[in-house]
Amino acid sequence: MSKSYYITTAIDYVNGQPHLGHAYEKLITDVISRARRSLGDDVFFLTGLDEHGQKVQQAAAAEGKGAQAYCDELAASWKALWVRLQLTNNDFIRTTDVRHKSVVQAILTKLHREGHFYPEEHQGFYSTRQETFLTDKDRLPDGSFDPIYGEVVELVEENYYFRLREHQQWLIDYIEANPEFIYPSYRRNEILGFLRSQPLEDLCITRPKARLEWGIPVPFDDKFVTYVWFDALVNYLTVPAALGDPVVSAALGVNFGSPQDGVGGGPSLWPADAHVIGKDIIKFHAVFWPIMLKAMGLPLPKQILVHGWWQKDGQKISKSTGNIVDPVAVIDEWGVDAFRFYVTRELDLGPDGNWTDAGFQARYASELANGLGNLVNRSLSMLKRYRNGVVPSRSDELAPEANRLIAETISNLRAYRLQSALQSIWSLVTRANQYVDQTAPFKLAKDPTQAARLDEVLYNLAETCRILAVLLWPFLPGTSGKIFAQLELKEDSSRMIGVEWGHLKHGHVIGEPAPLFPRKDQPKAESK
Ligand code: ME8
Ligand code: MG
Repeated sequence: MSKSYYITTAIDYVNGQPHLGHAYEKLITDVISRARRSLGDDVFFLTGLDEHGQKVQQAAAAEGKGAQAYCDELAASWKALWVRLQLTNNDFIRTTDVRHKSVVQAILTKLHREGHFYPEEHQGFYSTRQETFLTDKDRLPDGSFDPIYGEVVELVEENYYFRLREHQQWLIDYIEANPEFIYPSYRRNEILGFLRSQPLEDLCITRPKARLEWGIPVPFDDKFVTYVWFDALVNYLTVPAALGDPVVSAALGVNFGSPQDGVGGGPSLWPADAHVIGKDIIKFHAVFWPIMLKAMGLPLPKQILVHGWWQKDGQKISKSTGNIVDPVAVIDEWGVDAFRFYVTRELDLGPDGNWTDAGFQARYASELANGLGNLVNRSLSMLKRYRNGVVPSRSDELAPEANRLIAETISNLRAYRLQSALQSIWSLVTRANQYVDQTAPFKLAKDPTQAARLDEVLYNLAETCRILAVLLWPFLPGTSGKIFAQLELKEDSSRMIGVEWGHLKHGHVIGEPAPLFPRKDQPKAESK
């Protein structure tokens, strides 16, 4: 079986409701997945939830609930939001899934047998919030620990440690030799700087059950559960393993796939093509995870795509201060495509972003309602009014520009430049709106000697709408489908291959035009 394009998101801690940051990450991964499918790739998109560890245990306890019951309730509302966002994930992993526990335990057993772990007693300062021991480097100049660590307690504990240090030079060499491994490049430089500046501390991969029960039992020592980050990172392998991916099954010496598939007879997913994550968890993905994989004898993911963080009104998003953007409320008011558009148009994959309601509304009004919506509505309305909706014979006036912008959009999509892809698409929107203004079809329609010219203009506009629908599908799937429906095109709008100019057929009859983005500030959208 040929290898699928395998892309993952971070799995979110299930200790509250999803917010803008979580939704953004899943959305950009969805746009990439849809774009690849549209370009003909077989895509497997995985997302899910990170359910173990102290944070979740504490959040459940605070609500007087059992940890599993608490996770089950929240998992339902996260999944429901992902459905509303129209994510096209192929699977949804929860780290409390039986399949996941089996894979984590198989990996722990193997790495332990091969000598990668050792037990050691450690005395130190422990942050529950970050679930990590702190060192003197984490102290502020006054000797205290930064408030981001929450409550810090001094502990003496025995745990198992994973030997990282012996892999440090290998990892530096790997990242240097594979410049595309961490994207964008400033994040790669950050990780290289970190790796070159100090010896790696070994990674503590267990927690004593006496202190934390909510975790995956360590198969070789029943006094311990697995450290939540070791557990969480493995999710990226769980689904391939559970489906019988040949590479994962062979490396782990297990086969969880269905028996009739034979050993490792499942789909070929690993290595992942992209892990999409936020900037705060880069060390886990670009340092710990590659070393874990190397120890397992598995190839590394091809790319780690690191996105920035959203703020709202220039302040940190925070539940406690109430500075949040609730995706559900935005979707209820403006529609899912408006939300999908704003976050991908506003913020490129890499830097930090800032949500403002005014910015959202401005983009809605200018780019969606007046830009795209107005173009499609007036183009189709004029075709309906002046030609009874019958497509005139082909004319190629906008073809060179449209084909150039198709190529540009596709190359931006392939390179994960989602914001630039939208800019390319909107260049075509703007060009076509200018074309309406320059050719003035409403004037041509009044002059019978201009009938042939009007045909040309109407063809160019309708064909541009068709192309826009296809280019927009990864970003605005609902709008894309509506444009195809208004054009009365029966095929679906999700195939970017062969989208180039000239598909609308002379004599084809379009359907009913209807506004795509109702204006919120004015009465009803008016079409000329
Ligand atoms: O870190 N803007 O989970 P998490 C953009 N369970 N992205 C944001 C954000 C913001 N304001 N806030 C959070 C975890 N994120 C682990 C991951 S993966 C094996 C385990 C992003 O719920 C954050 O950067 O704290 C991360 O990629 C994701 O949301 C989940 O964060
Ligand atoms: Mg976090």
